[in-house]
Amino acid sequence: MAVQWYPGHMNKARRIIKDTMSQVDLVIEVMDARIPFSSENPMVAELRQHRPCIKILNKSDLADPEITKLWMAHLEKEQGVKAQALSVLDKSRTKNLPNLCRKLLPERGSAVKSIRVMIMGIPNVGKSTLINTLAGKTLAKVGDEPAVTKMVSSAQQRILLEGNIVLSDTPGILWPKIENGNSSYRLAITGAIKNTAFDFEDIALFAADYLIEAYSERIVERYKLKQCPKTGIELLEEIGRRRGLLRAGGIIDMQRTSEILIHEIRNGTLGALSFETPEMIAEETAISDATL
Ligand code: G4P
Repeated sequence: MAVQWYPGHMNKARRIIKDTMSQVDLVIEVMDARIPFSSENPMVAELRQHRPCIKILNKSDLADPEITKLWMAHLEKEQGVKAQALSVLDKSRTKNLPNLCRKLLPERGSAVKSIRVMIMGIPNVGKSTLINTLAGKTLAKVGDEPAVTKMVSSAQQRILLEGNIVLSDTPGILWPKIENGNSSYRLAITGAIKNTAFDFEDIALFAADYLIEAYSERIVERYKLKQCPKTGIELLEEIGRRRGLLRAGGIIDMQRTSEILIHEIRNGTLGALSFETPEMIAEETAISDATL
């Protein structure tokens, strides 16, 4: 599935964030715990340089907890990175983020020296929700423009957290960097790419194939099947039939069936699911490198 991001937007985001970086001591990158690789932007590593970084595996309530642990260990292999799984459902853990910032920058965070923090990430990973939880109030959400619209230094846009942590109220927004063909499917399945940008049947088929391979027991249980279908198409047909989603002539309405499957994945009806593991990504990267 081809998703086109405009190089002009990418460059604008990079330029604005680069200019802002001189006023940032620590970066918090928010990712979707279900797809940490696909929702990460490698530009963050380039932009933050030596600054410590907390990688948030957000929406962890929707992700497979065992796979999230694997990702945390994997992400922490990068110099200066601490990984943290968070969820809007567990606000106390989020409120502990200032402590983690101070641990990563022990020489700062005093009454004299503040720690200036910028939150970054691709659209829809939960940046605004995180900022609101930290601020203890609902701030206006900025549009999903690929840029940082305000600077950390500007007085009225600073949120002062305990321990002299200064957080910009506006996140740095980056487009996902899609280098792996499967990433666009995974971004669409989890809702990071807007519904209008893709064909539901296309992504539901990708999801169904993956669920059969990784979560066959869940599928059998949820859709009350005797056994797990062998292919994604068969699974979609089975769901459509069982839900009575038929068009004239008894043909299964694949569009509506696909919408239902994606909706159930996104809202957690199928349980906590992860759509990529570090091992899968290593394999996919090796295959794509070999074909270059
Ligand atoms: P953004 O600033 O990075 O663009 O994301 P934002 O905070 O707006 O969050 C995007 C959606 O994700 C919101 O749902 C929000 O409620 C949801 N969300 C944020 N954090 C969590 C989390 O930890 N767990 C779960 N399950 N959901 C979370 P929304 O308003 O319904 O938007 P949409 O998904 O319908 O677009």
